[in-house]
Amino acid sequence: MVYEAQEDSYLLLKYVKELSYGKVIDIGTGSGILAEGVMHNPNVESIYAVDIDKEAVEGLKKKCFGMIKCKHSDLFSNVEEKFDVIIFNPPYLPDDEKDEDIALDGGKKGYELIERFLKEAKKHLNASGFILMVFSNRTGKEEVDKSIKREGYEFELLEKKSLAFFEELYVYKIKIN
Ligand SMILES: C[S@@+](CC[C@H](N)C(=O)[O-])C[C@H]1O[C@@H](n2cnc3c(N)ncnc32)[C@H](O)[C@@H]1O
Repeated sequence: MVYEAQEDSYLLLKYVKELSYGKVIDIGTGSGILAEGVMHNPNVESIYAVDIDKEAVEGLKKKCFGMIKCKHSDLFSNVEEKFDVIIFNPPYLPDDEKDEDIALDGGKKGYELIERFLKEAKKHLNASGFILMVFSNRTGKEEVDKSIKREGYEFELLEKKSLAFFEELYVYKIKIN
């Protein structure tokens, strides 16, 4: 089932709307809420949206009237271009083997898909571009921070938001160092 926009989507959307410019890609677009959020932004030249879930890609294709270039892709596997802004609301929770969900399961510990994303993203980022990403304290913040540095990026914490049951969300702006 295609991921329905949640608190993480809306939190990231605020910064996506405020900061996007140039050539933008939304990785793991789901319902397309983040890609659609910049569709009418005059600073944005083009928008790509990809998802590993074919149903999500087909759904967005139908409602965006060709204004978003929608593709089926495992992260950047089907993407060649470079971008000014890369948006990612990843699956960021530790895998739940009893109730698998591609929209939520980020790997055994929760941060593995983010690690793979960070490795690949720099090849698709223009020199002055940046990544906007959201994740949770349940992902393993220290591990995410370490991966960001290890892969040669620096980050700025744009917002921290507390949710129920001691969960916290973080929105990061990540740039190549
Ligand atoms: C947390 S949901 C976010 C959806 C939407 N961007 C939002 O903010 O509401 C994560 C999305 O990433 C997609 N996804 C999971 N693994 C992926 C991968 N390896 N490559 C591309 N998309 C992936 C899921 O299908 C899902 O749509």
